[in-house]
Amino acid sequence: MVKARSIPMNPPHRIAPSLLSADFARLGEEVRAIEAASADWVHFDVMDNHYVPALTVGPLVCRALRPHTRLPIDVHLMVRPVDALIVEFAEAGANSISFHPEASDHVDRSLQLIRDRGCWAGLAFNPATPLHWLDHQMHRLDLILLMSVNPGFGGQRFLGSTLAKLAQVRARIDAHQRNDGGAIVLQVDGGIRVDNIAEVARAGADCFVAGSSVFGEPDTDGGYRGVIGRMRAALSRGFVEPA
Ligand code: DX5
Ligand code: ZN
Repeated sequence: MVKARSIPMNPPHRIAPSLLSADFARLGEEVRAIEAASADWVHFDVMDNHYVPALTVGPLVCRALRPHTRLPIDVHLMVRPVDALIVEFAEAGANSISFHPEASDHVDRSLQLIRDRGCWAGLAFNPATPLHWLDHQMHRLDLILLMSVNPGFGGQRFLGSTLAKLAQVRARIDAHQRNDGGAIVLQVDGGIRVDNIAEVARAGADCFVAGSSVFGEPDTDGGYRGVIGRMRAALSRGFVEPA
């Protein structure tokens, strides 16, 4: 069944709250709450205690959450190996699946496996992972995820070195599209907050994963809707030409 290749390209800036910082005892409610708060995607972090030390959730939880939201479920695999879990997550209702290229024995095959199952395919880069993994893969990609912290935990500080890397990837995506390549979303993951989101967008990102800054927001400041609204306002301000 082809379901996910039609993820809408609008709005141009997508906000993807990461469930890693949600209340795991109330995940269904949390997913409904971020949809009601106008989030664009649900970011679903999968850690396996091998590729990263932490252990989170698997396809059973993705399947359980699927009926709770119409938002795309964006699965970020921090696991090794990747292929068996790609198939399980696609069957569990994921819309996009990203993996770290060094965790796959055969990157082309893993990317193709994702698309064959009707999902968007993504490659994820740690801060120290070189971009040469993109060299022969642009035509197989729907999503590029740049980690702006080292993977494994929520609540870390944004690494400033990501800005230059984002600009390099943005240039590669733009060149790819000028050569009639397909659309590729440029996602940034880690340490995104209201006060840095516009700068990160100006560097070239168009999809923003935010865990602790969304789920840590107190209800007194408007809760999830309040913080997502402030992120969108910062994004629009960040793109308005000064008068
Ligand atoms: C980290 C995860 C992130 C994490 C981001 O390994 O991939 O998605 O949830 O959390 P914050 O936004 O708190 O840095
Ligand atoms: Zn993530």
